[in-house]
Order: sequence, then structure tokens, then C-alpha cells
Amino acid sequence: MPIAIPFHRSHHGPREAEAVREVIASGHTGGGGAVGARVERVLRELLGVRHALLTTSCTHAMEACLLALGVGPGDEVIVPGFLYVSLAAAVARQGARPVFVDVEPERLGLDPAATEAAIGPRTRAIFAVHYGGMACRIDALLASGARHRIPVIEDAAQAFHSAAANGRALGSLGRAGCMSFHETKNVSAGEGGALFTDDDALARAAETIRDKGTDRAAAVRGEIAHYTWVSPGSSFTLSEVLAAILEVQLGARDEILRERERVAAAYRTLLVPLAARHELELAPEPAPGERFNRHIVHVLIPRGLDRDAIGRGMRARGVQVTAHFQTLHDSPYMRQTWPGEPPHLPVTADTCTRLLRLPIYPSLGDADVERVVAALAA
Ligand SMILES: Cc1ncc(COP(=O)(O)O)c(C=O)c1O
Repeated sequence: MPIAIPFHRSHHGPREAEAVREVIASGHTGGGGAVGARVERVLRELLGVRHALLTTSCTHAMEACLLALGVGPGDEVIVPGFLYVSLAAAVARQGARPVFVDVEPERLGLDPAATEAAIGPRTRAIFAVHYGGMACRIDALLASGARHRIPVIEDAAQAFHSAAANGRALGSLGRAGCMSFHETKNVSAGEGGALFTDDDALARAAETIRDKGTDRAAAVRGEIAHYTWVSPGSSFTLSEVLAAILEVQLGARDEILRERERVAAAYRTLLVPLAARHELELAPEPAPGERFNRHIVHVLIPRGLDRDAIGRGMRARGVQVTAHFQTLHDSPYMRQTWPGEPPHLPVTADTCTRLLRLPIYPSLGDADVERVVAALAA
């Protein structure tokens, strides 16, 4: 049967096309222009941070951040076992070792006790991931970081517009936060990301790294007469074309998030009774004062059932669903680069084999949701 309900549908339309046309007509399509500056201002205000730097991806924001913090060979960075490869790759690219720590089973973020136990003399940073836009146990992790004087950085790739207790924006809580605007994210530029921080020195270092290791941005602001090469760097500035798409998406954020909330509520109505009958585990709801951005709707398939066979069965009924992360701590690249016994991460291993993601996007109707859940129950 053809796919009737795809896993993902882009939310880009005529308004984005018009914004791109305007940028092209302006003749300024590179990075570091007026549109990018406007988008950075909106992001600063939304997250309540002193600095927002648009980058070509969240992966690049994480690389810039690690480089700005001086993370290098011989260093260790604590990361959750249940993880998208970007962060592990960004750490390894600095020559540092990603130390995989198990996640807690509810929100699938770093387990604070296991994190505390993993901190050692070489630990240079703790990278906390907010899976699916659900706030991880960030306060306990921030407390660990403060006790050991180790920066906590947030991989808030999936967390645009989510908040921890007391409405604190995810991505704004650690020494720095990194976010993604990839095609699959709630608000998207196709590709793109951002780095957030209140730390002026970190922002200045990251701005230089983003611009080939030059102090060009300071020259553009008129702070210096000529720019020159002052540090290691790369080319991580977001094009004005993509910034223009993002600006439109940010303007539509309330509508996008409202529709995702509707879809998530429709799923919940149908999944709660199904879960009670079939030992299916559902994602938690936000605690009072928190906000989850409904980036992902996932279920954990009962142990003993074949998650992939269930996924294939749903696809045969026209519904496209997908698993998520593969374990990285025992991946070929880890084994080859840091040989030795991989760590024992039971919650990560269990989650990687049982988690199934269901479609969620603003144009998904309530009847579509019924069809997805019927296919899951079949
Ligand atoms: C948790 C997490 N971190 C990082 C990334 C990387 O984002 P980007 O594609 O913008 O580099 C993603 C992308 O899906 C992600 O889900």
C-alpha cells in the first residue's frame, strides 16, 4: 500500500517562498546580514539570553561551542547514551572522548546520579540532551556541574519553545545551549542552528570561530579598523536565504505549536487506553510550570515484541513510523577509536530497541491520528 500518512511533512509554503525571493532580490544572500541579525534578536528575546548566534547547523553550533571552551585531545565530555550521533561526532572531532552515561527511563535524558559518578579529572563538559523537547533533569545536572566547576551545555536541538520548571526556556539554562532548525524540527530553515549563551567571552570566541577564526564581526560593528586571523575557526555562518525562511517560521511559531499540541492531545486520548491494555509505555506529560514543544510522539513497544516488525506492519497499512537512535557507545567508530569494553547502559540499550516514533506535524488531522493508532493497535 502507498504511504498515506508520511512520518514527516514540511510546514513551508508561499510565505517562505516570498521571503526567499525578497532576499535574492536584495542581492545579499551570504551570511551575517540584516535578516540574520533580526532572527538572532527574536531568538535572544524568546530565550531570554544575551547572545544568539545563527549557525549552519546545530552540529556546527556544538562544534563551535566545544572549540570555544577549549575542549581538545585527552579531554572527556559526558554525553547521554541515548543520543543522536551529531554530538558524539562533534566531541570526537575535537579529539576529545565522548563518555556515554545511561539515561533515566522517563524523559530519556542523562541520569543525574550516573552523571555524577562519571565525572573524573579529565571531564571538561557535561552535555545534556532534551529528548523530543522534554526537559531532562537539568537542575540536578546544573548542580553537579556547579559542584565540580564543569560547564553544562544543552543539546536543545529538538527543544525550540520548550521550558523547564517555572517556564525557563530550554537552551538558555546551561553555560551554552545549541538548537537545530533542520527540516525535521518544529520551526525549520531546511538546515540551520543556533548557539545561545549569557557568557560574553564564550560568545565572542564562538563568533570568531564561526567566521573562519577572524574578528570580522568586530570590524563590521566598527570596533576595530581591519579584521584579521585571531583563532582556530571554520565557516559556520547561516546564509540570509535560510535565515529568511527561519524568520517566517518563527513568526508562525504560535500556530505551529498550537497545531502540534492538538495532534499530541489527539494521540493521548487514543494511546492512554491502548497503553493500559497492551503494556505500551507512553512519554510523560510536562509537570506544572514546564512546557513540552511536542516535537516527538513516541511509544515504547512492550518487551518481547519486535518493534521493527510492528513498524513494518504499520507501513503496510499506509502509515510511516520510525525508530530513533542506535546505540553509539558500542558503535563501529567508538570501538575502533577507543577500543575496550563498552560501558553497560541498560536503559539506553532497552530504549534503542523499543522506541517507535509516530507522525506529528501541523497538517496531521484528527482522522489521521486515528488511523495511526489503529495501525499500531492492529
Ligand atoms: C538531539 C539532536 N542533536 C543534534 C542534532 C543535529 O542537528 P543538525 O542537523 O541541525 O546539525 C539533532 C538533529 O536531529 C538532534 O536530534
